Amino acid sequence: MTSKVNPKTAAARLRRASRLRPRLAIILGSGFRAVAEAMDADAAIPYSKLPGFPKPSVAGHRGEARIGKLGGAPVLVLNGRVHYYEGHSMATVTFPVRVLAAYGVESLLLTNAAGGINPNYRAGDFMLFKDHINLQPDNPLRGPQPKGLERFLDLTQVYDPAHSKKLRTAARAARAKLHAGTYLAVPGPNYETPAEIRAFKKLGADAVGMSTVPEALVARQHGLRVAALSCITNPAAGTSKQKLSHEDVLTTAAQAAKKATGLITNFAQHHD
Ligand code: HPA
Repeated sequence: MTSKVNPKTAAARLRRASRLRPRLAIILGSGFRAVAEAMDADAAIPYSKLPGFPKPSVAGHRGEARIGKLGGAPVLVLNGRVHYYEGHSMATVTFPVRVLAAYGVESLLLTNAAGGINPNYRAGDFMLFKDHINLQPDNPLRGPQPKGLERFLDLTQVYDPAHSKKLRTAARAARAKLHAGTYLAVPGPNYETPAEIRAFKKLGADAVGMSTVPEALVARQHGLRVAALSCITNPAAGTSKQKLSHEDVLTTAAQAAKKATGLITNFAQHHD
């Protein structure tokens, strides 16, 4: 934890904003914004009012915390994240997760848009993380050891199997196509070359993206139960004739928004 701002300050600000005490937090990535809109919000706090929170600069990332109910279930939603490729340190990228831990959530659902490497994956499908491969060049756990937290974190099981099971049930109820696979994290911001995607496939990756893994590491360091969900927005580079663009990624995610919202709402209702 190298950020100079204490996560407890922003956590206290969130606690003052609403009497609700959700135990589940959800970070909404590219294209998952509709989930925030589907909430019955008790409080909405812009990131600019949360000390230490970075301001997202990417289209599709809003920058607002919401505390309220989703399908009747209490949730704390962070609508928008910052990425390593925006030039932030890993400490900054993961600061909101330290705030969520200080606030007292027990579980964290991370969402993102990803490119599909597995040939069975179609644009508009979803993938829950069974595991990940981290090819980002920096690590949010690097640096002085935060008091009481593990430095040499065990990653045998980053993604909580009980939560994954609930995601599967939630997807069935929402009629969303959900795969389970390995996410490979790259630094971005460029999309990959076809040769890189061929290499990643050989490494065992099913999907590729530019986020989520740093947040999952920090969440595990704090002992949170973690689940992660990708919306497969495009076939990865070279696996189709299609060229890649952020606009297309957002368009596909928007088309999948209704299913994404149904899936996440069902998950929140079954979270315990
Ligand atoms: N590669 C990396 N990140 C992504 C992609 C991709 O193809 N699609 C959405 N995010």
